[in-house]
Amino acid sequence: MTSLPAHPTGTPHHDHTHDGTGCADVLDLDAQVFGGLLDAAVAVAVEHAPDAVRTVVDLGAGTGTGTRALARAFPRADVVAVDADAAMLDRLRAGLVGTGLADRVRTVEADLDAGWPEVGTADVVWASASLHHVADPARVLRDARDALVPGGLLVVVEMTATSPVLPDDAAHADLAAHLDSAAAQAGWNRYPDWTPFLTDAGLEVVDRREPTAVVPPGPAASRWAHATAARQRAHLADRLGPDGLAALDAVLAATTPTVPTDPTTTHPAAPGRAPGEHTVAARGGRIVWAARRPR
Ligand SMILES: C[S@@+](CC[C@H](N)C(=O)[O-])C[C@H]1O[C@@H](n2cnc3c(N)ncnc32)[C@H](O)[C@@H]1O
Repeated sequence: MTSLPAHPTGTPHHDHTHDGTGCADVLDLDAQVFGGLLDAAVAVAVEHAPDAVRTVVDLGAGTGTGTRALARAFPRADVVAVDADAAMLDRLRAGLVGTGLADRVRTVEADLDAGWPEVGTADVVWASASLHHVADPARVLRDARDALVPGGLLVVVEMTATSPVLPDDAAHADLAAHLDSAAAQAGWNRYPDWTPFLTDAGLEVVDRREPTAVVPPGPAASRWAHATAARQRAHLADRLGPDGLAALDAVLAATTPTVPTDPTTTHPAAPGRAPGEHTVAARGGRIVWAARRPR
């Protein structure tokens, strides 16, 4: 089997300690920009879930964007958010304040590599951008099947190619390809087709979709593009050729804040760009698998 490293931010898959708030920030920004993709994935869960959903388990819940969306989509359910990283769960709980959802969300700090956590029976199990982090996904999927009620649903979500889109995209037509290949070489966000894993775990695959989105330029797309390109610049520079680096630098220049938050500093901006002008779009996608425990 292919080795399964990585995270969109470049954290090796068995290291679930991450790199602190930077990773959490990127997760939150990603959810902000690509909320439509999260909605599309949650819609798959709603469509195939059993009739009465009382418990949803969110595996590798991170900062909780999926947890909150699931709690809203299943208004009668309790959601159990599982993560090995205590700081992620702190942030998840903080994100519940004022949402009216806190009473229905429970956090469980547990390392899925150490065994299945105490979460009880589940009607829906959700694993977004997390299954590829665990050491033995086949075992985790078997445990998830055992935790599901007969007819219960497992949803696995992974990110597909993600890339900023420059206004003169044609001049940087290969940016996405450069980034994909550099990220693949670095082992970022690598995962197999989960279909045979799901089938081998005794689940019946009932859906597989690949929603994509190009989010038009705007403040959120610029913040996302800047944070993403900065991390790619920091971690992938050695693997990007001159064209790729030039394209990434163009993204950074086009998304560097023009309005300084600290009046004593000035931020460089791309020549000819007006303050507050947003020119970079955000392209992203997801693969969503839905699989049912046979009745
Ligand atoms: C890329 S983040 C995804 C977060 C969230 N599901 C989302 O879609 O935004 C992966 C999460 O899985 C967690 N994780 C990784 N390995 C884990 C393990 N062995 N046990 C529990 N959680 C793990 C990480 O701490 C991290 O919060």
